[in-house]
Amino acid sequence: MKLNVKAVDLEFEENERKLFADGKEIPFSVRKVSEMKDVLFNKDFINTKNKNDILYRMYRAAGVEKNATVFSAHNIRYDVTVIENYDLGGEFTKTLGHYHPIVDNGLAYPELYEVLSGEAVYLLQKKNDNGSFDLELVHAKAGDKVIMPPNYGHFSINVGKGLLIEANLVNSTFNSDYKSVQAMGGGALFMLKNGNIVVNKNYKETTLKHSDAEKLPFLDYSKSIYDEYIAHPEHFIFLNKPEFLLWKHDSWDIKSQAF
Ligand SMILES: [Fe+2]
Repeated sequence: MKLNVKAVDLEFEENERKLFADGKEIPFSVRKVSEMKDVLFNKDFINTKNKNDILYRMYRAAGVEKNATVFSAHNIRYDVTVIENYDLGGEFTKTLGHYHPIVDNGLAYPELYEVLSGEAVYLLQKKNDNGSFDLELVHAKAGDKVIMPPNYGHFSINVGKGLLIEANLVNSTFNSDYKSVQAMGGGALFMLKNGNIVVNKNYKETTLKHSDAEKLPFLDYSKSIYDEYIAHPEHFIFLNKPEFLLWKHDSWDIKSQAF
């Protein structure tokens, strides 16, 4: 399957689960069922038969080599993640989930996702000073772009009928924090395949907002995030400087001086 990127020819070979950039295979790492033991709704799901099943593949710096200077100039990385459609003990297949470190003024690095194929729900969760959590479930389809806002832990959940293929742009210099999520027994919500959404009992007070992915006014929707980044890396300053990101009129925008 050709992925919707023009500046590099990204081709995903579904049978072998291989990703090629201009014909060259991109190495990947995998997340297996056994690595999810702390974060599942059904903690008894893992057994000797399924522990090595692969839930998702992470193709880091996919196609970045071709435009290496424009990516390295701003410490930005482009990744592709392919999430299986698997029954994770009654849950939709999801990523392990993580937080990013603080970069400036108490704000953590944000991240930008784009759904290339399939259907996603992004679970976003932020801990408030009083210990309560603000939660968001953002539903996104192919072509949608979603901000993981500063200080929000985030999880990708494959709620579609086939594979979920998503891309992200993110600062390349930090390590993500997976431990905070594991210590809480997973994310704040479990999305079950039977349609139920269950609140994780380790999260005491939660406020939940559901939404569909909104149009981000500062992005060009005729282009993929890879293509827009190559043409206009200055549109993505907010990935390194979260203070450029603003919540305005019910959607994310960026300060005009970012341009
Ligand atoms: Fe992230």
